[in-house]
Formats: sequence, C-alpha cells, structure tokens
Amino acid sequence: MNWQTRLNEYIGQTQLFLDHNLNTDGCVGQEKLVEAMRYSALAGGKRLRPALLLEFYRILGGKVERALPFAAALEMIHTYSLIHDDLPCMDNDDLRRGQPTNHKVYGEAMAVLAGDALLTQAFVLATDPGYTAGLPAQAVLEAAHCLAQQAGVLGMAGGQALDLQAEGKELGIQALTQLQACKTGALICAACQIGCILGGASEEQTQAAQTYASCIGLAFQIQDDILDIEGDEAVLGKPVGSDQTNQKSTFPALLGLPACRQKVHELTEQAVAAIEGKFAQTEFLTGLARSLDGREK
Ligand code: IPE
Ligand code: IPE
Ligand code: MG
Ligand code: MG
Ligand code: MG
Repeated sequence: MNWQTRLNEYIGQTQLFLDHNLNTDGCVGQEKLVEAMRYSALAGGKRLRPALLLEFYRILGGKVERALPFAAALEMIHTYSLIHDDLPCMDNDDLRRGQPTNHKVYGEAMAVLAGDALLTQAFVLATDPGYTAGLPAQAVLEAAHCLAQQAGVLGMAGGQALDLQAEGKELGIQALTQLQACKTGALICAACQIGCILGGASEEQTQAAQTYASCIGLAFQIQDDILDIEGDEAVLGKPVGSDQTNQKSTFPALLGLPACRQKVHELTEQAVAAIEGKFAQTEFLTGLARSLDGREK
C-alpha cells in the first residue's frame, strides 16, 4: 500500500470513529451542543495529527483500531482549538474548513461550549474502558497525561496565549520559535509521542519521533503563515490576510517569504533524516512530511 492510500484510510477511519462517537446518546436537551461539536469536527480538515499518531503506532507493530480513540481524541482537541481560535476575541475569522466558523452558525456562547465539550469529551473517549481494554493500562495513563500536557499551559493553550500577547509586537527568532512550538508544535508532538507510548517505542525511537515532530511542527506553522499571505481562500477553506489584520508576529513578517520557504524545506529534510533507519518503515512519515513542504492547503 502506498503512503497516500494509507493516509486516506486513516482519514476515513478517523471520520467514522468521530461520527460514531460524537452522538446524542443520553442527551436530554443538549442536542444543540452536540450538533455544534459535530459541525466543526466532521467538516473535514487534513487529519494530520490522527494520521501521525496511527502511523507511529502501526510501524511499532500496533493494530491501528486500538489507537483510534486517542487519534480521534487528539483531533477533537485540535478542533476545539480551531473553534476558539476563530472567535471574535481571538482571531475573529468567519471561514473554517470551507464553511462558516462555528460561532457564525451557533453563536459565540455555544461555540465556546462546543470547544469546551470537545476538549473534555476527548478524555472521556481516550480513557473509555470499552476501548482501552486491549492496551496496557500504564500506556493509556501515560498517553492521556501526554495529551493533557501538550494541550495545556506549556502546550497549545499556552502557545495561543503567547500568540495573543505578541500581537502588534515584533518577536525575535527565539521567542517566535518557542511560541510556534507551543501553539502548533505541541499537538503535533502529542500525535507522535502518543503513537510511541502506545506502541512501546524504545528510548531512541521516542527521541527520533520527537525530533521529527518538532521539525514538521515548526515547518507546518511557517507554511500556514506563508499561506495566510499568498494562499487561495477557496483552496485553503479559511481566510487569507488574517495575520496581517491581527498584527500577528510570524516568520514571514520577520524573515520574508523566500527565507521562510527555505526554512520549511530545511526543517522537512531534518525531520526526514531524524527517523531514517530508526523504524521498520518510514515511507509514510517521509512522504507525508515532504507533502507538507510547499502545501497549498
Ligand atoms: C490549522 O491546522 C491550525 C494550525 C495549527 C496551523 P490545520 O492546518 O491542521 O487545520 P485542519 O485540521 O486541516 O483544518
Ligand atoms: C492557530 O494558529 C493554531 C491553533 C492552535 C489553533 P493560526 O491562528 O495561524 O491558525 P489558523 O490559520 O487560524 O488555522
Ligand atoms: Mg490564531
Ligand atoms: Mg487563526
Ligand atoms: Mg494561520
């Protein structure tokens, strides 16, 4: 199976699992909240984070289905971060994943709650005894801890705070790299780390996965910032020009576009080099990383 076919399988499996588990079972009046959660979570998206998690788990010998609850949980947390990121009090954007943003459809209060509930339900799902039975208990605990850590103060939420505080300022390379490592790198690291934890990776493999993750994480956000300048809204499914409107501190603002394209390329090759020879199969991880270099969406 080539890596693109496998990626499509992961996307399909994640979609089905989310569709099945984001349901109104037991709801008495909370159906609107579930509708709002489903609206954003099932709207597509590249599913990069679940794909990475499932692939690390698979190449370590795991049965993909077993890691699906964690993969879906991670995507739910990512989706929550996007819903909140788009709110008027944050980036104030109207388009996401090719459709009006959550708050445009359900109102700000319901969008806040849809994000809150996606974050919380992520842990309900990942630690559901009905799903975790086939996994070592210690690994489930470590994976859940990793997920929480990478979403929290030193992870995505903290990175979003740094991002807001940096509006209207020009950060230096070091501070900007740290901001991006938290804001975007953390959930990408969570994907690779959780795949390694559940798959029982060695210390050396875990280290290699960590380097791979932090390199593609930074490359991914720099490319996102490039696309915010020169992307096509119809292809991206989200607005262009948002960073300039919000006076965001970004790599293109600091270094210019050509240097950023070069940096994305270098980071991608660093990522590829980090995992070479460390896992039984690396075709997927290499192909995926390179496909993100210069992506248009
Ligand atoms: C968007 O993430 C936010 C960033 C961290 C740059 P993605 O580009 O992965 O968004 P989706 O999931 O494909 O919609
Ligand atoms: C946000 O970065 C990353 C998150 C943690 C949600 P951006 O604000 O650049 O993401 P987009 O461009 O709106 O997807
Ligand atoms: Mg933002
Ligand atoms: Mg944004
Ligand atoms: Mg952006």
